[in-house]
Amino acid sequence: MEEMKKGLEGVVALDTRISFIDGAKGILKYRGINIEELTDLPYDTVSYLLINGKLPNELELIEYSQRIREDRCVNAKLLEMLKNIYFGEEALDGLRTAVSLISHFDYENDDHSSNANKNKAIRLVAKFPTIVAALNSCYEGHEYIEPHSDLSHGGNFLYMLKGCIPTELEAEALEKDLILSAEHELNPSTFSLRIAASTRSDPYSAIICGLCTLKGNLHGGARKGVMEMLDEIRKPENIKGYVADKFEKREKIMGFGHRVYKTWDPRARLYKQVAKKLALEKGDRYLFDMAEELEKVLYYEFVEKRGKAIYPNVDFYSAVVYKYLDIPSELATSIFAMGRVSGWIAHCMEQYSENKVIRPRAHFV
Ligand code: ACO
Repeated sequence: MEEMKKGLEGVVALDTRISFIDGAKGILKYRGINIEELTDLPYDTVSYLLINGKLPNELELIEYSQRIREDRCVNAKLLEMLKNIYFGEEALDGLRTAVSLISHFDYENDDHSSNANKNKAIRLVAKFPTIVAALNSCYEGHEYIEPHSDLSHGGNFLYMLKGCIPTELEAEALEKDLILSAEHELNPSTFSLRIAASTRSDPYSAIICGLCTLKGNLHGGARKGVMEMLDEIRKPENIKGYVADKFEKREKIMGFGHRVYKTWDPRARLYKQVAKKLALEKGDRYLFDMAEELEKVLYYEFVEKRGKAIYPNVDFYSAVVYKYLDIPSELATSIFAMGRVSGWIAHCMEQYSENKVIRPRAHFV
């Protein structure tokens, strides 16, 4: 048997046409297009690109956006059920249950044709934000707010979350967040859902696997971890003590390090720009400056002092963006999933189209 690679580090498990990463140079492309070129587009365009393999033309985008907007509403029975879901500190637990519930309301759930799967894809992309906002309204004990069909994907989510129309910059920030979260090759959650899809399980089941895997704080849960870390640090004077304590206890610092990137994660740079814009619009740089100071201290600790290639990852400045948008940390992983669902669906479809069941071996000891 071949040599075992712990954590499958460096193992190439499959071919994909969905995204490309150069971890040494810090390059990320969705369907051949650099991530830097995609963040000024609407999320719907990028979602279409990932799922359909090409950028939509004007008419295709109008149709796709229209369908997403029409499918934003969720079943009244589901809303009643959500009221019974208690999700303590992690809304993703509720989202996972809700995705399972909506599969029962999907009349095409047992239809495994690619056409039916494309319809399910649209429903999933459309309903994720509504479910997350509905879970939050149950949690905070306020009325559920119906989706607003005139707003963008990100703008509508912020509207449902807060009950008021977000500023242009806030809506733009969330659109960019969803795009930057949308896809990332064979990360743990995508790999787990491809395994489910490879057994010919349905898209809802596969996406639930993705959600469950995203939750952990070595993966998507790190975004919530960064928000909590910033709360704990509170003031720039506490940064050095916080970092020293983490190193002493040999604990991981959330939002830093990556299995593939050995330089800056390109998404982290783009998130940093969004965070700075929000800080300037809100006339409050305190949090941004503190995060930047933490980034500098950690560059010294990881790179200069220890010679380790550990840099900010996607979760570091995204957490700063969420704090400027007044998003509760309990929702952070679910909002990550709202973006990622498009990439997950694309991988699910790719797996179905060239399937071989994923079943590696274990070395018996
Ligand atoms: N803080 C402190 N030390 C770190 C960190 C960190 N954030 N990241 C890596 N290291 C250290 C490890 O302790 C290890 O040190 P050692 O060789 O002395 O034992 C070395 O760097 C290698 O780290 P591993 O965890 O073995 O690297 P791996 O590729 O398995 O893990 C991971 C990558 C999980 C992302 C890791 O960097 C980490 O735990 N980061 C913090 C959590 C996080 O931000 N996760 C989000 C990643 S992006 C995403 O999934 C959406």
